[in-house]
Amino acid sequence: MAFQSFFDFRMPTHVVHGAGSIARLANLLNADAQPLIVADAGLVEAGIVSQVTAVLDDAGMKWTLFTDVVGNPVARNVSAGARTYAKGSCSAIVGLGGGSPMDVAKMIGVVATGGGRIDQYLGAGKVAADLPPLVCIPTTYGTGSEVTPFAVLTNPKTQNKDPVISWKIAPSAAILDPNLSVALPIGLGGTTGMDALTHAIESYTNLLAAPFTDGIALTAIEMIGEHLRVACANDHETEATEQMLLASCMAGVAFAQTRLGNVHAMSHPVGAQFGVHHGLANAVLLPHVMDFNLQSRLGKFAQIASALGEQTEGLSDYDAACLSVEAVRQLNDDLGIPSMLKETGVKASGLSKLARTAMQSGNVTINPRKTTLADMQTLFRTAL
Ligand SMILES: [Fe+2]
Repeated sequence: MAFQSFFDFRMPTHVVHGAGSIARLANLLNADAQPLIVADAGLVEAGIVSQVTAVLDDAGMKWTLFTDVVGNPVARNVSAGARTYAKGSCSAIVGLGGGSPMDVAKMIGVVATGGGRIDQYLGAGKVAADLPPLVCIPTTYGTGSEVTPFAVLTNPKTQNKDPVISWKIAPSAAILDPNLSVALPIGLGGTTGMDALTHAIESYTNLLAAPFTDGIALTAIEMIGEHLRVACANDHETEATEQMLLASCMAGVAFAQTRLGNVHAMSHPVGAQFGVHHGLANAVLLPHVMDFNLQSRLGKFAQIASALGEQTEGLSDYDAACLSVEAVRQLNDDLGIPSMLKETGVKASGLSKLARTAMQSGNVTINPRKTTLADMQTLFRTAL
């Protein structure tokens, strides 16, 4: 198996897992901490925020709640959050929810300590100051943001979703409590779960994949293949939810090291230019990009097919690799996810701009198959 001769592996986040582990939140913060809780209005309504504030109340902690977070968050959400942090004399941050609140929590930490505007920090290595203690609590099983050094901002200037990249924004702790995400609506569970699968597959197959991350990513693929359908179909399946939370976090650990590939390069402008949910865009794009990438990593795509439960014994690597694409198409179908971008609101007239924007992503350069602008245009046309 080809692998990187040189690689770094970092995992600075203390991960706490288990049903009821939200009770440990106060212990993961300093005793005199005054946390800013970053969530969204839906989590208040679902009674999830009150489960978190109850733990802080029991510990006698003064907290402030900030819920001005939208899907595909923008700079305004971050600056409003940083103002609320200062006004509340906060000294710690709790990011609660899906990728958007967790990413906004990270970016509030950047502006609260470093000052200025968040767009000054876009790119790699621009964060100089240490963040306040940051605990992330995922309530969906997709982004893995609770363990990554990335936060993504929708940027009207580039018409893209641009990342802040720094290990300084990796959370100090993450709490994986399946009780907080057991009853996700199928649309949300399915698409966020497919985001996690995309992370694992892109990490496992891209040019920066290494033995440390391969083991974690392939196990995550297997767990998602086994548990995502059940977790979405049955609100009482705590075990499947627990496995999905773990798999999503593991995929996060893997892609925190390796970054991703063409699926994310393409889904970010789709999200920024057409407002499509991140997990949905990835889910639709994933089998199309896998089909394009197959020939660059036949053995690895054959292993993905097997991890997703396909019978590959006796097949050539090529035939087995093709089954990985079929397995992902079937999974999308079972979860009610469309197969083409036009079903998510993407218009043919936007394709050439989408392709040009996608080519700006660093994820294209580490995609396993070399990709030209013409390839990118073809990929978008095929997926439309
Ligand atoms: Fe993602």
